[in-house]
Order: sequence, then C-alpha cells, then structure tokens
Amino acid sequence: MKAKAKANTNIALIKYWGKRDEKLFLPTNSSISITLDKFYTITTVEFKENMINDKFYLNGKESDKKEQIKISNFLDKVRKLARTNLYAIVESENKVPTAAGFASSASGFAALAAASVKALGLKLNKIELSALARCGSGSASRSIYGGYVEWQKGQRLDGKDSFARRLLPESDWDISILSVIVADNKKKVSSREGMKRTVESSPFYSAWLDTIEKDLKMTREAIKYKDFEKLGEVVERNALKMHATMLGAAEPILYFKAGTMDVIHHIHDLRLSGIPAYFTIDAGPNVKVLCKPSDEKKVYESLLSLPLVEDIIICHPGNGISYL
Ligand code: DP6
Repeated sequence: MKAKAKANTNIALIKYWGKRDEKLFLPTNSSISITLDKFYTITTVEFKENMINDKFYLNGKESDKKEQIKISNFLDKVRKLARTNLYAIVESENKVPTAAGFASSASGFAALAAASVKALGLKLNKIELSALARCGSGSASRSIYGGYVEWQKGQRLDGKDSFARRLLPESDWDISILSVIVADNKKKVSSREGMKRTVESSPFYSAWLDTIEKDLKMTREAIKYKDFEKLGEVVERNALKMHATMLGAAEPILYFKAGTMDVIHHIHDLRLSGIPAYFTIDAGPNVKVLCKPSDEKKVYESLLSLPLVEDIIICHPGNGISYL
C-alpha cells in the first residue's frame, strides 16, 4: 500500500484567478499552462494499519498543523474513492522555491494525487486524476500532463467536467522559460486568499472575465501554429490584467517588488532591441521570462546583470506525472 510519484510544476500562460466553488476548487475561467522540467515534487504515500491520523513530512520535517489539515482533507477524498479508513504517512521532497510565486502546490498535489491513488490500487485515467488533483489545488489539475495544457473550467456544479487536457506534448515545441528570482522573502498573500479577495471586491474582475475567452482562443491558436510572438503577447497581457484586477481589490494586493519592475522594463527594452522576450508573473514578486531557445543565453546574461536579480533558473517544457 505504498507508492511514489513525481510531478513537475507548471507556469500558467493564461491564469486561473477566481473560484466559482471554493470547496470543489471550481474556477471561474479556464486556464492554459506549460509544465516545467526543473521544478518538481516527489511524494511517497504509504497507507498503514493502526494509525490514528495522517502524518505529513515536507523535505524531511514534519509540517505544521495547517498543512497537515490540507493533506488530510485531500486524502479523505481518496479514501472515499477507495472505501478505506486507513491513514497514511506522506513524505514529500519539494524542488520548488516554495511560496515565492512558484506554484509548489501544483506539483505537490499532483504528486500526492498520483501516489495516493496508486498506493490504494485505484484505477483512474488521466482526466479523473486531473479532476482529483484539482481538489487539492486548482493548478495541480494541469501538472498531471507534460507540455502545453488547458484546464477547462467546466459547467457542472459537481465539478466532474472541470479537468485538464494536454494541448501539445512537451517534445513538440521547445521554448525557454527563465525563472527570474528577485526576492526570496515569503509572499504575504497566498494565491488562494488573493483570488478570493479579488472576486469579492475588485470592480475590475468583470473585465477579466469579459476578455478571458479571447485570450484563451489566441493562446490555443499560438500553440497550435507554434507562433512564439503571438503567444508572448497574449501571455504578457493576460498576466498584467490579472495583476490589475488585484490592484482594484479591497484591500489591494500588490505582488511586484522593485526587482519585478526592473525585469519588466528590461524585457520591454530587449524587445525594442529586436529580441522577442515576454514575461509572466504569478502571485509573487518573481518573473518568468519566455524566449526562443536561440535567444536564451543572451536573455539570461542580460537579466543576470540587473542588480536586483538574485538568481535565474532556465527551464524548458517538462513531462507529466511519473511513478518511481
Ligand atoms: C496565480 O492553484 O495555487 O498561479 O486552487 O487555491 O490552491 P488554489 O490556488 P493555486 O492558484 C494559482 C494561481 C496562479 C495562476 C495559475 O497558476 O493559473
């Protein structure tokens, strides 16, 4: 009753920002992502007799109550599917800069879903696994697959049609994704809280919803025809729109730091000098820069020369869930 799985994290090209059902993790809009090859979680789950609760260790340390509850709530869903009452020991190794705007919950819950389902001998297909991972963290629904992935929001109240599907395998289109780290301090507002506050209080949220289908369509087309400039333009605009909705929230949420702004302006300057590079930013100060592999070195070196840039990790499209 033991299994081990690895899931890579993903970066949203078109963002998931807002829930229509918080308990079931049902989003207000569909989203599109790229699974990354460098950031991942490896999780071992063992269900055992004679345990009185679940135990969760992250990077070798027993985690706090809040995290334990999140994991146990998720495992309750898996136990229900398998009709078992057994508790589990969960051990995760995270190779993601946690809580710095990189979605560690995406790889975390994707790996947990895959390992716990396998440990209990459940036979779920990828779509079912994606819908299950979604119930731990929305973005985890996309990390089941490699490459370019769309999480369709679905219409149903029970969430059965809210799962991700692959748009293009990772090997079909290589692009460079530079994770630019500008600050290492823990983010103050979690994405969960940030999106909730935005939906509840931002007057700009309706404009986000009004334009999202257009952004999704452009992104699907750009991926289908491997049109890098078209992809970059829509991705950058979508990220800025998401952050604009937050600026209208009460209280406003501002994730950008001075280093974030420096990178944004630098990317605009690179474009003016003829290098097609684009950025996207999640719920934190770090920036992910998209460029063509042929420009990767130039973009890397020029970004590294910025004084507020602390580190850059170069990623490429990565694969989906694997079992170890
Ligand atoms: C800005 O998936 O972390 O990264 O579903 O509440 O766990 P929960 O939120 P989470 O939100 C990710 C938000 C984002 C955009 C995205 O990944 O689509």
